[in-house]
Amino acid sequence: MALAEKLSVTYLDQSASVKARLDRLKSRSVILRVNALNKFFQSGRQTITALRNISFQTHRREFLCIIGPSGCGKSTLVRILAGLETQSDGEVLLDGRPVSGPGRERGMVFQGYTLFPWLTVKKNVMFGLRMNNIGRAEAAKQADEWLGLIGLSKFADVYPHQLSGGMKQRVAIIRALVNHPRVLLMDEPFSALDAQTRARMQAYLLEIWKKVDITIVFITHDLDEAIFLADRILVLSAHPGEIQELIQGPLARPRRPEQLNSEAFTAIKARLEELIHPPQDGPEEETYPAVPALSDIRDTVE
Ligand SMILES: Nc1ncnc2c1ncn2[C@@H]1O[C@H](COP(=O)(O)OP(=O)(O)OP(=O)(O)O)[C@@H](O)[C@H]1O
Ligand SMILES: [Mg+2]
Repeated sequence: MALAEKLSVTYLDQSASVKARLDRLKSRSVILRVNALNKFFQSGRQTITALRNISFQTHRREFLCIIGPSGCGKSTLVRILAGLETQSDGEVLLDGRPVSGPGRERGMVFQGYTLFPWLTVKKNVMFGLRMNNIGRAEAAKQADEWLGLIGLSKFADVYPHQLSGGMKQRVAIIRALVNHPRVLLMDEPFSALDAQTRARMQAYLLEIWKKVDITIVFITHDLDEAIFLADRILVLSAHPGEIQELIQGPLARPRRPEQLNSEAFTAIKARLEELIHPPQDGPEEETYPAVPALSDIRDTVE
């Protein structure tokens, strides 16, 4: 019997309070709307369809996670939302206005550490503020406040290489937030961190999200991470990326690590596994030659 069938809940079940919370969320204004978006890449004479017919919307203060198999177009989608890439068809609206090019209403955090190595932590935080024509003294004051918020005041004058991976991503997050964007776009921001630091960063991001009026679009490969963080999870299919399902998260907030052991968690994880890794009928896409017996290798060597 499949795991999901042994559970007393399905991935579609929600408690009354979780349902009420999601209903409230969906009654809030739409911040980001994506309509019938396609993305094609030209590679020589070949046209690669990276994204097909993507439509969804996120509401104010929503935490939306996007998951999908490797190469399904997640980074392409988030780069289009950031205005770093243009779609082939369709539209992206932020607060009802079409997105064209990067803008201060969208902050971005990537997987790699993207702090400027030649600037101190504080100057990294001040950078975006100064680009927005905020005076040096005011930018320094605001940078101090943000560093205080994430508990890194002591590290204001050190350089990024002197920080741990988790600290670097904390700075990257506030650097993306200093200009008060409407949306924070995050592309696998914690995937280079070890499991413990990653769990701490997830809890930490939820803390920040509670305090700041921000809508988050968070890309991840990690199903546990998506379930732990998201209000809703958008699941894309393998290449080309199309929407398979938009799933409502079943967990109550505030999120607690114990919820990772609940039946609701197991049910939604089983559903995500089913969508991301469907059982294969045909041969595996990638095949490896059989490893010869050790005696055969010895024969060859001798
Ligand atoms: N600049 C480009 N030119 C041509 N093809 C591209 C380009 N960028 C991405 N692609 C193709 O588009 C598809 C989606 O790539 P993308 O990086 O968005 O996937 P992804 O879901 O983020 O993958 P991963 O999970 O490995 O990060 C892939 O087939 C990729 O080869
Ligand atoms: Mg990617």
